[in-house]
Amino acid sequence: MSDTMTDTITIRRPDDWHVHLRDGDMLRAVAPLTARQFARAIVMPNLGTPITSVAAATDYRRRITAAAGPGFTPLMTCYLTDVADPAEIERGHAEGAWVAAKLYPANATTNSAAGVTDVRHIHAALEVMERIGMVLCVHGEVTDPAVDIFDREAVFIERVLEPLLRDFPALKIVFEHITTADAVEFVAASGTNVAATITPHHLHLNRGDLFAGGLRPHLYCLPVAKREAHRLAVRTAAISGSAKYFLGTDSAPHPRQAKESGCGCAGIFNAPFALESYAAAFDEDGALDRFEAFASLNGPAFYGLPVNSESVTLERRAVTVPAEIDGIVPFHAGETLGWALAD
Ligand code: DOR
Ligand code: ZN
Repeated sequence: MSDTMTDTITIRRPDDWHVHLRDGDMLRAVAPLTARQFARAIVMPNLGTPITSVAAATDYRRRITAAAGPGFTPLMTCYLTDVADPAEIERGHAEGAWVAAKLYPANATTNSAAGVTDVRHIHAALEVMERIGMVLCVHGEVTDPAVDIFDREAVFIERVLEPLLRDFPALKIVFEHITTADAVEFVAASGTNVAATITPHHLHLNRGDLFAGGLRPHLYCLPVAKREAHRLAVRTAAISGSAKYFLGTDSAPHPRQAKESGCGCAGIFNAPFALESYAAAFDEDGALDRFEAFASLNGPAFYGLPVNSESVTLERRAVTVPAEIDGIVPFHAGETLGWALAD
């Protein structure tokens, strides 16, 4: 709900349905920033050693909780490999060790070398997940080098997602960080068991921004930003009020030197000002009345979790994003955003 002047907006405390928190010093640097903004987060399992077992997920969760401080609940995910064990996946779900499993096509992105080379290898796991109602989070890009990088999401729909849904029509799927009109159309046309997360950067950036005045390594992520028509389609979906779309930052920190490199890593670190960034986009489109559904209601509904009881307030007030935070360049570095999270 927002007041009549819409100079403040108070919503239920949001969650981040897709985040990379890393480990060690990086985890200790970034986890408090996510916890400042969000009550819960779906934590991606693509560590150097992927999280594939209940024991590894449980240990990682403990490290996150210690780093984030009180009041933050990490929701863990299982990294699917070609040798994913359906019994382990079911046990982890039953014991509350994880709420979802993540499908990375092998070599699609950072730390995905152990990912799935062919979805036929995980059919037994998907069968279990469909039966128990466990969510499959999908990085939706083909890795075929013959497919142009800007087409990899659209081609993934026809080559992988459509066949997958024919085989597992009731499987709950989150099409993560969608970047194309094709993905929006696919999600909209699918049943209520198919939803999508949308990042703040894909609401703001098109592919031209990656090259504006020179190469912009801090705006490079995967899936890479697409042409303007796609950004607008994703943005229309985000603000549509449809329950199928919800907040997932895909905040993916890399040290400055790893981005500003001859072969720069993919990933945009948006955790510090994620809500501010989303709010700015919704406000630009006159859609602040639909922000709470996107940020705080649709995600829990899809995952079958309660909504948060606390609330947060955003104020129309200038906030300048620092050039660097703990050796990482954040999204919107040096820019001034028009909305700020109240203390
Ligand atoms: O840009 C990205 N960075 N996309 C991903 O899928 C992974 C992520 C990372 O872990 O750095
Ligand atoms: Zn991600």
